[in-house]
Amino acid sequence: MTLLRLDTSIQGDRSASSALADLVVGEYRTAHPDAPVVTRHLGENPLPADAWALAYGAGFVPEAERTAEQRAATELATALADEARSAEMLVLAMPLYNYGVSQHAKTWIDLAIVGGGTGVPILEGKPVVLVTTRGGSYAEGTPREGWDHNTDYLRRILVDIWGADLTVVEREFTLVGINPALDRFAEPAAAMAAQAEREAVEAGRALSSARALAAAAS
Ligand SMILES: Cc1cc2nc3c(=O)[nH]c(=O)nc-3n(C[C@H](O)[C@H](O)[C@H](O)COP(=O)(O)O)c2cc1C
Repeated sequence: MTLLRLDTSIQGDRSASSALADLVVGEYRTAHPDAPVVTRHLGENPLPADAWALAYGAGFVPEAERTAEQRAATELATALADEARSAEMLVLAMPLYNYGVSQHAKTWIDLAIVGGGTGVPILEGKPVVLVTTRGGSYAEGTPREGWDHNTDYLRRILVDIWGADLTVVEREFTLVGINPALDRFAEPAAAMAAQAEREAVEAGRALSSARALAAAAS
């Protein structure tokens, strides 16, 4: 029973989303130390940016006539979709960059859609924990309410298209303490960080219970 973990931060060991994903997976592994965990760090080892167009275009070319690049891109797309489909649970660390979804997350999604089939629910019923972090706050009533074009997009794909049983762990104001313009938000930022950590641990515990239930039922 495999857990697939994807990270998409471009900030290395300063990543707030990876730190929360560490808590989710750490809690899960406390209960199941030998459970297999497959990891892909798409921020550190990006998927090729041209693979999606190549794999998509290959769909219009008879197999025997495809170029080597089209064949490689199709194989990659199929492998990514199969990897997601064959995992029993997923932990996805996908932060907000430039008011939208990270390009690494988007490339993975686009390729998995080509590989798995448009509209095919490759995560049907699977527990998926989405960890997402934002430097500022986009809460109701804030000046940039509605500018987070990451979280809702990911919900649409993970739940409405792929059928996942989704838990979202969010942390805002991660730039407090880094960007002096946000210093006045130190108190709510600390509370949000603590809340996100609690939710990450709870999400790890829920994955661990889901694994125990599935094992008992099999
Ligand atoms: C290139 C870049 C673009 C960013 N764009 C935004 C943004 O549009 N809005 C925002 O609130 N924070 C933005 N941030 C801050 C990140 O959302 C914040 O650092 C968050 O913690 C990122 O997750 P990570 O720490 O896992 O990388 C940006 C950060 C970087 C590096």
